[in-house]
Amino acid sequence: MSDKKTGILLLSHGSRLDDGEEVIKAYKEMYEKEFPEIPVEYGFMEIREPGIPETIKKLTSENDLEKIIVVPVFVAHGLHTKRDIPGILGIESNFDAESIGGHGHHHHHHGHDDHDHGHDHGHHHHHHHGHDDEEVDFDGEIVLTDPLGIDARLYEIIKDRVSDAL
Ligand code: NI
Repeated sequence: MSDKKTGILLLSHGSRLDDGEEVIKAYKEMYEKEFPEIPVEYGFMEIREPGIPETIKKLTSENDLEKIIVVPVFVAHGLHTKRDIPGILGIESNFDAESIGGHGHHHHHHGHDDHDHGHDHGHHHHHHHGHDDEEVDFDGEIVLTDPLGIDARLYEIIKDRVSDAL
């Protein structure tokens, strides 16, 4: 049996505030504790370091990997999961730019049609370039999973939040 193995990248959006990193880091540590033999790291789509290429570099420099599974810890698909993340990973995307009236231009991200980050666009654009300029360097297989999506386990959390606030 080959020594080569699979690595996991838990991907968060990225923010100037620390809250998002605390969350994704906690999930990374939970995963690591349950599956100590599987290399796992967390990284960010934009705004915060480490970015995607940097995180993959870390995974591959410390482990002999033949496959990397990237899990976007986002609630739903959006432009990032359908277009930007596949672009950075250098993998096929079935995203149809025409469906949103766009031109499929990778740098044309500051419109942010699908969500609000609460930070100004000038800086946002700048940060995008910071990550866009890097490229993922990995010869093995990269699998990008679906985001969390519609799941009864998430619905339970929604109900908890409401009942706590009643
Ligand atoms: Ni964004």
